[in-house]
This record gives sequence, C-alpha cells and structure tokens, in this order.
Amino acid sequence: MATPETTAEMPPMMYGTAWKKERTADLVYEAIKAGFRGIDTAAMKRHYDEALTGEGIPYLDALVLHSPYPTPHETLLALHTLQSYLPSSADPSRAGQVRRLGLSNVTLPALVEALPPPAATGLSIVQNRFCAAEHAFDRAVRAWCAAQQQSPVAYQGFWTLTGNRGVWDAAWFVRALADGVPGGLSRAAAWYVLVRSAGVVVLNGTGDVAHMREDQGAWERVAAWRAGEEEGARVWERCVAGFRELVG
Ligand SMILES: NC(=O)c1ccc[n+]([C@@H]2O[C@H](COP(=O)([O-])OP(=O)(O)OC[C@H]3O[C@@H](n4cnc5c(N)ncnc54)[C@H](OP(=O)(O)O)[C@@H]3O)[C@@H](O)[C@H]2O)c1
Repeated sequence: MATPETTAEMPPMMYGTAWKKERTADLVYEAIKAGFRGIDTAAMKRHYDEALTGEGIPYLDALVLHSPYPTPHETLLALHTLQSYLPSSADPSRAGQVRRLGLSNVTLPALVEALPPPAATGLSIVQNRFCAAEHAFDRAVRAWCAAQQQSPVAYQGFWTLTGNRGVWDAAWFVRALADGVPGGLSRAAAWYVLVRSAGVVVLNGTGDVAHMREDQGAWERVAAWRAGEEEGARVWERCVAGFRELVG
C-alpha cells in the first residue's frame, strides 16, 4: 500500500488493484481522481505481477504479508525481519522504509496462540475476507482487532461485495439505506457504507469509474442525510442495527 501524499491516517476505503493487469495504472489514476487516498497493491505472481510497485517511492505506508507461513516459527521470523524496516527499528539502513506491518488471510488461533502480542511483532493491520461464509463475517478476528488497545490493529476487509452478493442484494437494511438517501444509492455503495460503519477498512476492487465516484461520495451523502433530516437519522439507526445484528 502506498499513498501519494501522506501516511498520517489509513483511509477508511482503499482502492485494490488486484487482477487489473494492463488497466492498473489508468485505474489507479482514476481512483485517485475520484478521491481514493490509499492503494492496496499485490505481488502474488500466480495471479498478478506488480513487482515494480512503489518504484521511486521512498517508503511504503504498509506492508502486508499475504498469509501466515506453514509454521508459527516461520511467520514470526518473517514478521521480525519486516519489523526491522519499521520506523522504530535500530537499523538505520532500514528504519522507516515501511511504516506499518500487516498480516492477511489469518485466523484467530494463528493470531492469538501462535504469535506474541502485536506490540512485540509490530503488527498493526489484519487484512481478511469479510463475508458470511468466512467465520460469520470474521467476527472473532474483528473483535480481537478492536480489543487491541495498547497497540492498535486495523481491520481491512476484502471480498465485501463479491463474497456477499446474496446478502447486499437482498437485505432489507441495505435496500432501506440505498432507497432512503436523497437521490438514491446503489445497493453496493450502501453496503460499503454499512461495512465502514462497523470499523472495517474497505478494500474496493471496482474497475468502473462511476462506481469509484459513487462509493467515494456515499459516506458523506449518508452523513448529510442523517444530520439534516430526522427521518434520515431514524433510518440510519435502524439500518445499522440490522447490519450489526447480521455481522456482529
Ligand atoms: N489479501 C488477500 O488475499 C486479498 C484477496 C482478494 C482481494 N484483496 C484485495 O481486495 C481488493 C478488492 O477485491 P475484492 O474481490 O474484495 O473486490 P470487491 O470490492 O468485493 O468486489 C468488486 C466487484 O464488485 C463489483 N461492483 C459492483 N458494484 C460495485 C461498486 N459500487 N463498487 C465497487 N465494486 C462494485 C465490481 O464490478 P465493477 O468493476 O463493474 O465495479 C467488482 O466485480 C483487491 O483489489 C485486493 O486489493 C486481497
């Protein structure tokens, strides 16, 4: 992940470049124009080769391991090696080249039983599938992230749309939000707003510029509706309650 301007905050929604192939550069440009300020790139050669990502950039905002290694010992070794690139590193030739460390496709036992606490590894991001079929919206891992007060861990969700099509297409609270906002929202954009409301940093994989723009504007449009109309505030509260009942 690398942002063009600043590393101050992790944006609540990031643009994901996976599988975009030769469209990647143009779509990233469009995403930045649409308001995205965080880009999730990937280097999983089986699917995509983005090996030159970050060339010319002095540091990465975050480096996320795609998954734990076969043994906890190997995972820990990888994290400790990557930790030497964090700003806190004692190695001046590396310190600050990476600002945050993350781990993806990780289960709760792998986090809790196999690794020391985040403060010891420098881990501050978990990136997982956010979908019904995956441990009921990954609720245990999300709860673990939220509980890390001493050394905060952000939760980034992918597959939020592709893994939940039957849900966001049909759920009453998505429809109520999408139809209630003045001017209307697509159900996909309304779902993203609800996902964000639960503290999940959304990885957005659209290849459609109109979707980028709608998704970027949706949070503020909902917020304005909530703030400006009693009906908006009421519908929002009901929709969030329905959503949280589903996802935890
Ligand atoms: N760590 C990992 O193992 C891992 C694995 C998979 C993905 N990821 C990350 O997650 C990113 C997102 O991928 P994803 O599969 O999770 O994507 P997603 O956001 O769940 O789904 C994107 C799909 O939904 C469609 N869509 C329909 N309406 C949309 C709207 N309003 N906004 C956005 N998309 C809409 C898109 O089609 P259109 O193009 O027509 O909009 C696209 O086919 C990837 O690029 C990657 O960065 C990480």
